[in-house]
Amino acid sequence: MFLVLLPVLGINFLLRDAQAQSVTQPDAHVIFSEEASLQLRCNYSYPGTPSLFWFVQYPQQGLEMLLKYYSGDPVVQGMKGFEAEFSKSNSSFHLRKASVHWSDSAVYFCALSAQCLGL
Ligand SMILES: *[C@@H]1O[C@H](CO)[C@@H](O)[C@H](O)[C@H]1NC(C)=O
Ligand SMILES: *[C@@H]1O[C@H](CO)[C@@H](O)[C@H](O)[C@H]1NC(C)=O
Repeated sequence: MFLVLLPVLGINFLLRDAQAQSVTQPDAHVIFSEEASLQLRCNYSYPGTPSLFWFVQYPQQGLEMLLKYYSGDPVVQGMKGFEAEFSKSNSSFHLRKASVHWSDSAVYFCALSAQCLGL
């Protein structure tokens, strides 16, 4: 059994007066075998320390937030065994899961917001 994970779009929360900010998800279509470990990459471009999010959209459903990073411990635990690690030096917030299941097939979104917004 294979999973198809489609991190197609980064959501960009644009802010008035914010400088250029974006997220990059290099893996457009990723297929994993069941039980394999998963990493979905997300690099961001933002001057300073952003708030970072991973969202998931299961088929025929709305967006759900998996996890978020504001500050503190760079490793954030989320729903369903997902975690992500913030790295300021790498400008990255990669999503990981130890063992993927077919039910993880979904569209994954990495998102960024300016720290001051407090979403
Ligand atoms: C940062 O990048 C280095 C070099 O590519 C890598 O070894 C390290 O695991 C990365 N850290 C994170 C948190 O992604
Ligand atoms: C993302 O960051 C990694 C280091 O963590 C770097 O090796 C890679 O080239 C970056 N990819 C993009 C698309 O910026």
